Amino acid sequence: MSETATGGGVLAVQPTGGALGAEIRGLDLSAPLSLNQAAQVRQAMLDHGVVFFRNQDLSDEELVRFTACFGKPVPHVRKQRPRRVKEVFLISNIVEDGEPIGELGDELIPFHSDLSYLERPGTLSVLYAVELPTSGGQTQWCNCTAAYAALDDAMKEKLKGMRAVHRHHVEAQNPAAHIAHPIVRTHPETGRRSLYIGPHLTRYVAGIDQNEGDALLAELYAHIEQPQFIWTHEWRIGDVVLFDNRPTMHRRLAFPPDQRRLMKRTQIFNDEIPVE
Ligand code: SIN
Repeated sequence: MSETATGGGVLAVQPTGGALGAEIRGLDLSAPLSLNQAAQVRQAMLDHGVVFFRNQDLSDEELVRFTACFGKPVPHVRKQRPRRVKEVFLISNIVEDGEPIGELGDELIPFHSDLSYLERPGTLSVLYAVELPTSGGQTQWCNCTAAYAALDDAMKEKLKGMRAVHRHHVEAQNPAAHIAHPIVRTHPETGRRSLYIGPHLTRYVAGIDQNEGDALLAELYAHIEQPQFIWTHEWRIGDVVLFDNRPTMHRRLAFPPDQRRLMKRTQIFNDEIPVE
């Protein structure tokens, strides 16, 4: 555990011991963070890809204020029911008055990096657990930096200059143009390289034969989905997870349809174009 003095207290960062991720203790996110605290949280996120905080109790405004310590939270591109705080996106299978209150249902959502179908995709996202099923519904993160580093030299060479097109299956969410990003991207803050493809949103490899491209993607997916690159978050109500979409992907596991799950998510996007 590393401990660093912050204004009036100590911020403790406890790595999960898994492929990525760390718990940060000693912060009440309903209070504004000092600049020093925000800088330490950001550094921990850059170091570990994903950081989480237990036992939080946040209004929507507080969730947005916390997110704003790390960039500009913006409403998701998918339209949702009218709500007070538009930057908060509801992920839920709960139905009220015959209408789902949120998105993404109860099924497995395969690995992806948020909003990668945009020219300036998701950089950071925050998830806040409000209601949880008694089984299933865990979120798994993949360490795409470690996955890239573990590729052999021939594959690293082959991937140089290659790009893949990302597109959402809900056509209305996509920009008109097909957006291609580098298959290997370099993190603008850490300088580390990561694989930037996932089965949920990556559609095809640009500029090569479709079968060849599909075979390459299948090979890369089989590589990144190996257990040594994956960490599973077992949610508790009140958890807040802040994650960096640039060097990680995540997937949500399925859960029983007769159980309620409600997550509030904020997202930061529209500010960076991925570079190789
Ligand atoms: C997502 O894929 O962004 C949803 C994650 C979750 O609901 O845990």
